[in-house]
Amino acid sequence: MYQPSSDDFPWLAEEPDYAYLDTAATCIVPTCVRQAVDRYLLDTHANAHRGSYARSHAATEQFEQGRQTLARWFQIQPEQLAFAASTTQALNDLAQALPIDWQAGDEILLSIAEHHANLLPWQRLAQRFDLKLRFIELTPEGNLAAPELLLTERTRVVSVSAASNVTGAIYELGGLLSAARQRGVVSIVDAAQLASHQPRQLGLLDADAVVCSAHKFYGVTGLGLLLLAPQFAEQLEPFRVGGGIVTRVTREQADYLSDVHRFEAGTPNTLAVIAAATATEWLDRHVGLSHYLDTQRIELNHLLAQREWLRVLPSGATQTPTLSIVSSSVHAQDLAAYLDSQRIEVRSGHHCAQPLLQYLGYSGVVRISLGAYTTPRHLERLASALDEAYELFS
Ligand SMILES: Cc1ncc(COP(=O)(O)O)c(C=O)c1O
Repeated sequence: MYQPSSDDFPWLAEEPDYAYLDTAATCIVPTCVRQAVDRYLLDTHANAHRGSYARSHAATEQFEQGRQTLARWFQIQPEQLAFAASTTQALNDLAQALPIDWQAGDEILLSIAEHHANLLPWQRLAQRFDLKLRFIELTPEGNLAAPELLLTERTRVVSVSAASNVTGAIYELGGLLSAARQRGVVSIVDAAQLASHQPRQLGLLDADAVVCSAHKFYGVTGLGLLLLAPQFAEQLEPFRVGGGIVTRVTREQADYLSDVHRFEAGTPNTLAVIAAATATEWLDRHVGLSHYLDTQRIELNHLLAQREWLRVLPSGATQTPTLSIVSSSVHAQDLAAYLDSQRIEVRSGHHCAQPLLQYLGYSGVVRISLGAYTTPRHLERLASALDEAYELFS
């Protein structure tokens, strides 16, 4: 059975009352990830895939070993895993590089719950080529409403998130993805939030591309991961061009690598790859974490349900350990500011999902997201601090 430990998160012993409840934004890393990063910086920090000396070789080896560990973790082949700087960069790259001869009126299918990272790249493309964006809406319970029905003859791309960064709903995408495949529609899944909760599911999604960020599954910032279906990857040109992805360059032209490295121009973020690979090994040693977080979320829901002055946003049939609350008595920002004054860190606002908040009729909500270091004591403190805030502001 998983229990948060101060061996992994020393601050749990030093400051047990400090509650970091913004894991959906970025996780705090366990000790082993910090140590791996430290060792790398001390012993092998160098330019991977460049130098012909020992230190660079060591960096290259660790970088590629990291790819193998991560690919194994996602249950895909290493050649299917490309690195980017973030989910945001990966989605922008994909939107620009899709092998599609766009015609005015072609459609891109998204959900209303997309993070801006999976909306704005498509908005830009739509403006440039006169395309139509269509949006899957939500059921009152917070699930996607009949997503397959919005596929039309003109749909060229489906790009949807696997889990909401606001409500924590995990969306059922199986039917939509297989319908897209049958129709030859390109499918992309923004799995930034699912990666933190069910990372192993990512490689099983039947999509052309699945993207996520390592800082959401106990790695560090600066690393996006693209899981690419082999046939889809074959059709993609390099997203960005520059050093490290060419065989021969003349003044007029360049010959590019044909493997996955062609998507990784420039110096790779070896440090973040090592951190992410170490994080997955840590997650492997703590298989009970998912269950632990599910029980903590149920407990949190229970505590929140006792407070009639606030409402939890509907979050579908299955959830990540993230949820959002809203109240007509206390402004989201006031609530978050008060919690912060009590060393309870949550996020307030639109969470980079403004269309979703507009759709739900809110200008801001408070998001609470649990992580491997969330203890029952944190949730109790949160509940009391919410009561204090209500007394103060309502
Ligand atoms: C669902 C979703 N998509 C995309 C992103 C963007 O990730 P990044 O900031 O790592 O690029 C986030 C970040 O919170 C997210 O939650």
